[in-house]
Amino acid sequence: MYNDEFLNKKLNERKQQNAFRTLRIIKDKIDFCSNDYLGIVKNNLLQLSTDNCQLRIGSTGSRLLSGNYKLIEETEKEIAIFHQSQAALIFNSGYDANVGLLSSIPQRGDTILYDFLLHASIRDGIRLSFAESFSFAHNDVNDLEKKLNHAKGNIFVVTESVFSMDGDICPLQQLIQVCKKYNAHLIIDEAHATGVVGERGEGLVQHLQLQDTMFARLHTFGKACGCHGAVVLGSQRLKDYLINFARSFIYSTALPEHTAAIIKRSYETFPCLHNERKHLHQLIHFFQSANIPFEKLSSSTPIQVVIVPGNDAIKILSERLQQKKFDVRPILYPTVQKGKERLRIVLHSFNSEREVESLVNELKK
Ligand SMILES: Cc1ncc(COP(=O)(O)O)c(C=O)c1O
Repeated sequence: MYNDEFLNKKLNERKQQNAFRTLRIIKDKIDFCSNDYLGIVKNNLLQLSTDNCQLRIGSTGSRLLSGNYKLIEETEKEIAIFHQSQAALIFNSGYDANVGLLSSIPQRGDTILYDFLLHASIRDGIRLSFAESFSFAHNDVNDLEKKLNHAKGNIFVVTESVFSMDGDICPLQQLIQVCKKYNAHLIIDEAHATGVVGERGEGLVQHLQLQDTMFARLHTFGKACGCHGAVVLGSQRLKDYLINFARSFIYSTALPEHTAAIIKRSYETFPCLHNERKHLHQLIHFFQSANIPFEKLSSSTPIQVVIVPGNDAIKILSERLQQKKFDVRPILYPTVQKGKERLRIVLHSFNSEREVESLVNELKK
């Protein structure tokens, strides 16, 4: 056996924090956890037509070498039209898209200002960049403005439309105003808004008709779209730039044709799921109005948060819920700040009001 005992030091730290992660397969529980907000996966809505039998199975290289194909280019064109963007570039995942975008565009001497609660994929992209970076307090435009006063070079402001761990929405109009004042480029990650926010699930930016003020938008396909991959939206020049400089795009094998077909199918499907969005918003309202003996964050999105400080306490509560067949996951420190450990309850169009009510009753015990 190979001696890799040196790995134990950090693993033991995790265990001491009661934050050791393991993979589990969950069956026969009520889903209050997955990103399948509209039930696209649960209801098997992404079946391909018989024409798709012709699709090549597998992938042969990066898109700059042998991996490019007509269907992925058509899908990008359709997505760009749907999102009212000049151009669209598909990446293999939201993680890759954020890393590619943020590591390649801001240069040495530039400044990145990012919301303190941003997703790890954006943070990792920022870490790979040679630009200076500073966080601003969550959704705090005044704090952002203070930091903008000291920013140098090209300035990039990065945020999420719906925050993945808090479920709240960024103050987009105010952010745009302050970015305009300081000539900063706004980048917005719409991962959790895709499919959910807006009449057709087009996301927050288009819902407010602000797409022309955006430097770049990112939509992921792994949440409400029910598949895999992500797209960066922006100008044709931005697309050309990413094809030339985003290393996570250049040095990675292209998504196979089947995945592009499924993404295309998802974009034909989720905009039409009006009843699902309606029911989902009713459940959100129901949960927000419920009385529970814990702090509940205000959220108008499927991500509902109940704060239960301490890894031990939150693990005990989530285990109890799991035993009662509710698939609700705890979010532990260090994923969130100490004291802000939480249950992240995800609501879906396929959850019934009764299921949500029984979860609420369980939380009251
Ligand atoms: C805000 C945000 N951006 C990006 C990602 C990464 O997307 P993907 O799962 O497609 O890699 C996630 C995934 O959790 C996310 O929540």
